Amino acid sequence: MAAAIAVRDAQRGDAAALVALWREMTTAGAGHHPSRLPGIPTVAAVEVAVGKHLADPWGRLVVGELDGQVHAMAYLRRAAVSPLHDDTTLTVEYLHVSDAARRHGLGKAMITEAVAWAEHEGCPHLAVVAPSIAREANRFLARLGLGQAGVLRFANTHTVARRLAAEHAPNLLALLSSRRSVLARRAQLARPVSSPPEPESAGT
Ligand SMILES: CC(C)(COP(=O)(O)OP(=O)(O)OC[C@H]1O[C@@H](n2cnc3c(N)ncnc32)[C@H](O)[C@@H]1OP(=O)(O)O)[C@@H](O)C(=O)NCCC(=O)NCCS
Repeated sequence: MAAAIAVRDAQRGDAAALVALWREMTTAGAGHHPSRLPGIPTVAAVEVAVGKHLADPWGRLVVGELDGQVHAMAYLRRAAVSPLHDDTTLTVEYLHVSDAARRHGLGKAMITEAVAWAEHEGCPHLAVVAPSIAREANRFLARLGLGQAGVLRFANTHTVARRLAAEHAPNLLALLSSRRSVLARRAQLARPVSSPPEPESAGT
C-alpha cells in the first residue's frame, strides 16, 4: 500500500521533529556545509519561531508527513523578484526530507505545496535554494524545470568585516564606520509595518 503523504503548516507540537530534521540537515551527509548553516536550535526556540510564522502573511514554515510522522520541512517565503519589478517570487528554503523517508514522494509534495501557494498568491516565479554540491537534489529540481540562477554565498557578518579590515585599506574602514552611523540614524525612522519584505539579492 502506498504511504500516506500530507503537507501542512508547522504547529508548535512539531518543534521536536523540526529540531531533529535541522540536526540531520546540518550533520549526516545531507549535502550542506554544516559550518555555514545556523546551529541546532532548542525546542523552545522553535516553538516560538513556529508561532511567528503562523502569523506571517509573507512566509510559511511547512512540514511533510509520511504515514502520520513528520519527515520533511520547507520554508516558503514571498518577496519582490527585484527592487525594480512588482512581480513576486516564492522562494523555497531549507527543503529537507529525512534520509529515512526519501523517494516516497514527500519532496514533490513539498514543491507541490509551494506551487499551490504561489498560484494562490499570484506569484509568477518560483525559486528553490539548494546547495550547489547536492547533485541528487539539483537533479531532482532540474527535472521539475528549475534552472540554476545564481550562487548564494554565506558568511558571518563579522568575518566579512574582519576580511575588509585585513585589507588595510583605510578608505574601506572609513566607509564601514560612516555606513554604521548612517544606518543607526536610518533605524530610528519607523518603517511602514504593512510593506513586504525586502527583495532577495542572491546574485541572480
Ligand atoms: C531532494 C529531496 C528534497 C527529494 O526528496 P524526496 O522525498 O526523496 O523526493 P521525491 O520522493 O518526491 O522524489 C525523488 C525521486 O523519487 C521518486 N519516487 C517518488 N516516489 C517513489 C516511490 N514510491 N518509489 C520509487 N521512487 C519514487 C520520484 O519520482 C523522484 O524521482 P525523479 O527525481 O527521477 O523524478 C531530498 O532528497 C532531500 O531532502 N535532500 C537533501 C536536502 C537537500 O539537498 N535539499 C536541498 C533542496 S532540494
